[in-house]
Amino acid sequence: MKEIIDVQLRTRNVDFGECRTDLLAVGHFSDAKGLDRLTGELNRKLGGAVEQLIKLGDFEGKAGTSAVVYGNKDIGAKRVLLVGLGEKKKATLDTVRKAAANAANKAVAMKIQKVGLALHRAFGGRFQPDTMGRVMAEGVYLGSYRYDEFVTGSEDGRLDSLKVELIDSDPAKTRRLNGGLSKGAIIGKAHCYARTLANRPANVVNPAKLAAEATKLARNTAGLTCTVFDEKQLAAKGMGGVLAVGSGSQNRPRFIWLKYIPAGGAGRNRPTVALVGKAITFDSGGISIKPAANMEEMKMDKTGGIAVLGTLKAAAELRLPINIYGFVPAAENLPSGTSYRPGDIITTFSGKTVEVQNTDAEGRMILCDALSYAVKQKCNIIIDIATLTGACRVALGKYMAGLMGNDENLIKQLQKAAEQSGEKVWPMPSGEEYAEEMKSKIADLKNIGSKFGGACTAAAFLRQFVDDAKWAHLDIAGTELFERATEYVGEGSTGFGVRLLTTYVMNLAGRG
Ligand code: BES
Ligand code: MN
Ligand code: ZN
Repeated sequence: MKEIIDVQLRTRNVDFGECRTDLLAVGHFSDAKGLDRLTGELNRKLGGAVEQLIKLGDFEGKAGTSAVVYGNKDIGAKRVLLVGLGEKKKATLDTVRKAAANAANKAVAMKIQKVGLALHRAFGGRFQPDTMGRVMAEGVYLGSYRYDEFVTGSEDGRLDSLKVELIDSDPAKTRRLNGGLSKGAIIGKAHCYARTLANRPANVVNPAKLAAEATKLARNTAGLTCTVFDEKQLAAKGMGGVLAVGSGSQNRPRFIWLKYIPAGGAGRNRPTVALVGKAITFDSGGISIKPAANMEEMKMDKTGGIAVLGTLKAAAELRLPINIYGFVPAAENLPSGTSYRPGDIITTFSGKTVEVQNTDAEGRMILCDALSYAVKQKCNIIIDIATLTGACRVALGKYMAGLMGNDENLIKQLQKAAEQSGEKVWPMPSGEEYAEEMKSKIADLKNIGSKFGGACTAAAFLRQFVDDAKWAHLDIAGTELFERATEYVGEGSTGFGVRLLTTYVMNLAGRG
């Protein structure tokens, strides 16, 4: 199998004009009056070629666009890539991240080996150099990513590796860029790790394989350990929800528990955070089977759980001084003679009983066990992440995840992390009225509500399994995949959640 592209990132202290590289990327705002200092200097050395390109209207600096100018003997770079940044007043950190992704994407498409990024220069003093280093590093991973491990016969191919240097002529700035780079590279790598796992199809990743992957991750990462419960242990513990959903497949369910404990233990008064992720390795709907159209998308129904794996990987590599537990219930939802059925009454780990009215509402059936298990492990903060409802996708589209919860402060913290990470969230309700709809006449709960407000009733169901813990829920059904590649993410899984949750735990640990 082909390896996913190997990105090598470092900083380099060098004069921009003299920087020897295959492609030197500089930023340009669409409303800039003339060229900034760096681009102006390159333009002079290139005999006015940049100015000419802009004057001809071939490059306007719009976000998501770029143009190549070829080098000459007066500059070290073989090519200069002008990267559009859009309007200056609209620029945010995500503008920097997307510009880096754009440049890295171009570099891979052009089969370029070595890239220099000077994108931060156009922003002047607007953001701290370490923050810029971090987001540029993230962007490089996002933009260079290709999911092609099963493509054996591609004609245009790609190189196996990409060398990227964040460059600056000022040694103090370069040092600060480097501080950010090491964090950004950890986050970017974790993000791509999640994307690859999510993109793998259900015949490659089943619950046992996912558990083996988590075990391997823990083995290779300092501070991380992994415990896996197989079917027998699930039965012994009474995880009726996970067992019911997994009962239709020969690929038996698993429960993955990743633990991150920092070296020397977490400081006193530090909370233990639980991240709970839905990992349905394939969701056919079960007996309440889904229509055929686009059913292949449901290999992505494991993304929440994978985002948890990615976040624990990043948190451990960042050596954050807090305890983090990752709980990932994993099952395959298939119809068969052994499947759970509509009408079944399931006793969950909490002891609460659930009447199944639709086997396609399976995410909540596995998450409820994991949430109660997290409560039992005395986690004071619980965040779950799941491709839970088509209703959330209808409500918010693909740009934002639904955010529900029982604690205003936790919701605010996640909104802040969303702003910083560029992975957006939107608050939605999940209180009393919605919970009312989830009551069953013949059991404590039923697993579907009325026709409307499906994202909210699903969250209201989960809410009943967290007792007094501070809890938030992220419904990523819409944000989980992009059908078409953007300048930011290639086709397939967006890896949504890794940056958001990593930023949240970094802030919580005081390492933002
Ligand atoms: N995994 C799906 C939700 C989903 C839909 C994710 C589309 C991504 C894209 C979930 O298990 C599901 O099937 N939900 C049902 C719930 C319904 C039966 C109450 C849905 O949304 O239709
Ligand atoms: Mn389903
Ligand atoms: Zn599902």
